[in-house]
Amino acid sequence: MKAVVCTRYGPPDVLRLEEIATPVPRKNEVRIRILATAVTSSDCYVRGLNLSPAYRIMARLALGWNAPRQPVLGMVLSGEVDSVGPDAKSFDVGERVFGFNRHLFGTYAQFVCWPEDGLLATRPTTLTDDEAAAIPYGGLLALHFLRKADVRAGQRVLVYGASGAVGTSAVQLARHFGAHVTGVCSTANVDLVASLGATTVIDYTREDLTDRAARYDLIFDAVGKRKSAASLRQCRRVLAPGGTCLSVDDGRPKLRREDLVLLGELATKGEIRPVIDRTYALDDIVDAHRYVDNGHKRGNVVITVP
Ligand SMILES: NC(=O)c1ccc[n+]([C@@H]2O[C@H](COP(=O)([O-])OP(=O)(O)OC[C@H]3O[C@@H](n4cnc5c(N)ncnc54)[C@H](OP(=O)(O)O)[C@@H]3O)[C@@H](O)[C@H]2O)c1
Repeated sequence: MKAVVCTRYGPPDVLRLEEIATPVPRKNEVRIRILATAVTSSDCYVRGLNLSPAYRIMARLALGWNAPRQPVLGMVLSGEVDSVGPDAKSFDVGERVFGFNRHLFGTYAQFVCWPEDGLLATRPTTLTDDEAAAIPYGGLLALHFLRKADVRAGQRVLVYGASGAVGTSAVQLARHFGAHVTGVCSTANVDLVASLGATTVIDYTREDLTDRAARYDLIFDAVGKRKSAASLRQCRRVLAPGGTCLSVDDGRPKLRREDLVLLGELATKGEIRPVIDRTYALDDIVDAHRYVDNGHKRGNVVITVP
């Protein structure tokens, strides 16, 4: 099969399109013919190990010292079950699925074998494969943090970094929970964030959000602490009494299969919509990584797989 192999940690051109053996599903695995995947910000961290020295050592121990032990990166997929292991009962051959796996990777390829009981669910029929691949990463992370903060109807939620993969999901899901959402983004993304349901949008290039009188029950940083730390210290000044400030980098999110199913249902009802910035072919994945490395994608960058 065709797959993109990460030959060592480094810039995007460490990625190479190669022919490798097609995997065979083990007992409780399903093999999925991948039709679309996404280049996530996490993929770029794994490829480039662009982390603080302490985190880089931990990442090398976990992922492989000189190069990823699993050379095929990619955590997100939309595709079709192509073959099932002898004990796998959850999916039928031919079933359309979408999913996320941050441990096994392997989605920059035509096929991958994943356990049937992982973050894998039936793909909503109303979505294309590209759209389905744009849901799990931002959607599952945003749901985890909004649940952690116990977001409820009527609360005032500020999403800092409202235009990224996590941010676009957080805006839509907070609105779905009945919150009044304020999104913070740069000028080019103001219309997008408003269209996702934010009642107020603050352009951080033109305005200091702490100058406003508004106070928030939750400030959710969807950018990540390396870029947002200084701004977040300021943001605490606009927390309502008893309010919470959470970052997408706080702890290791607990991602749940039932949430993937819920995201599919919400997308089917039009409660959330996948935001796709650009789509690249698998052959052009180096360009896709260069683009995501810039840190300013709008929603998701999707890869179509032949
Ligand atoms: N805890 C975990 O295990 C875990 C797992 C996965 C991801 N994460 C974190 O989640 C973060 C977000 O992921 P993502 O895929 O949503 O990222 P993304 O799609 O690249 O989006 C980042 C957003 O941040 C905004 N931004 C960039 N620089 C900024 C700045 N200096 N100030 C304010 N906003 C800025 C950009 O909007 P504008 O273009 O409008 O500026 C962009 O839309 C990652 O960076 C990572 O730290 C954590």
